[in-house]
Amino acid sequence: MAAPGVQRGLEDVVALESRICFIDGHRGRLIYQGYDIRDLAAQSTFEEVAYLLWYGRLPTASQSNDLRARFGALRSLPPALVERMDTMPVESNPMDVLRTSVSALALFEPDEARPGASSIGGAQRLTAALPTIIGTFHRRRSGLPTIRPRPELSQAAYLVYALLDREPTELETRAVDVALILHADHELNASTFAARVTASTLSDLYSAVTSAVGTLKGPLHGGANERVMELLDEIGTPELAEEVVKSKLSKHERIMGFGHRVYKVEDPRATILREWSKKVGEAKGNLRYYELLRKVEEVVHREKGLYPNVDLYSGSIYSLLGIPHDLFTPIFASSRVAGWTAHVLEEYQDLRLIRPTAKYVGATDLAYVPISERTG
Ligand code: ACO
Repeated sequence: MAAPGVQRGLEDVVALESRICFIDGHRGRLIYQGYDIRDLAAQSTFEEVAYLLWYGRLPTASQSNDLRARFGALRSLPPALVERMDTMPVESNPMDVLRTSVSALALFEPDEARPGASSIGGAQRLTAALPTIIGTFHRRRSGLPTIRPRPELSQAAYLVYALLDREPTELETRAVDVALILHADHELNASTFAARVTASTLSDLYSAVTSAVGTLKGPLHGGANERVMELLDEIGTPELAEEVVKSKLSKHERIMGFGHRVYKVEDPRATILREWSKKVGEAKGNLRYYELLRKVEEVVHREKGLYPNVDLYSGSIYSLLGIPHDLFTPIFASSRVAGWTAHVLEEYQDLRLIRPTAKYVGATDLAYVPISERTG
């Protein structure tokens, strides 16, 4: 129970003004720069959405193509970073590798990582580089051939190529593109807030994204998508879903992929990803994950009244493509980096140090005891 005047978890605290993203948690609407996520998911590409987040307007065809070409040109990593990545333990958590590599990238790009030098150029560089970082690590630990920048590929197709060393089909590319669009921003979620807090000290873009990657890793945030697949593995068949989920709930365990601080109805991203999970499952002749998730949804809603969030269905799509579970959160990061950087740039435009206060509930008048006289 919180002390009077304390908003635990900053729930319902309005911390700043932003033009980037709007969530209507009661009506299940998500808006990027004025555009409904459902229209963007149905008609746009990740490149268009990244442009929208950074520039505040949808690109023309030539602006979108230019951004796609720019991503292609910015994908390679400095050889000195790749050398350092080669020394990272292959059993590392890929999110740890991503966090450390983003941080290390700044050492080799001192101009762009200079406080005060942060710009859309730096945002594009980081967005282009993240799939390469993840792919470089995953390929090394899996014995796959060295990654190439493949400038002709869209971000969605490149991400699949980076991780699996194969080109995705048209349907797979679109499924990943939609997932990237849906994950690109989400107002003041924990990782974006972390990025904005870092930026509000006038620190640089690379530092802000490093903070954000570390924050996204947690299982209550981006890490939930990996845990959903662990749950499905544990359940095994739809007939056992009821028993396993009820048993977890009776032990007050959280069911990953459900619940949200802001949405009081279904997360619109979950609605769209559910359709894509089914579509990809049908194309692969494997509806096992989809059917399991539908059953889990039914039980969790009946027992707890909770709705699915963005993390419930994304992992099933990536799994059907053959992507290992521990890469799901890094995939999330490689999309959310567009939003993180848009927010950081917005923070610089209207900067005020983010520094809340705490209600002190400890002692204040203890008598100091010299170290030689302390007993236990
Ligand atoms: N499973 C079971 N119970 C849940 C769940 C869940 N997934 N989510 C919330 N609850 C319950 C809590 O136990 C609590 O019950 P109580 O009042 O009886 O103790 C009640 O609902 C309220 O939960 P809070 O934790 O106070 O709600 P909060 O707004 O802080 O939590 C959160 C939001 C962290 C997302 C929560 O719903 C959760 O843990 N979900 C599972 C993790 C997850 O899917 N995270 C991804 C979120 S989307 C994203 O970050 C990309």
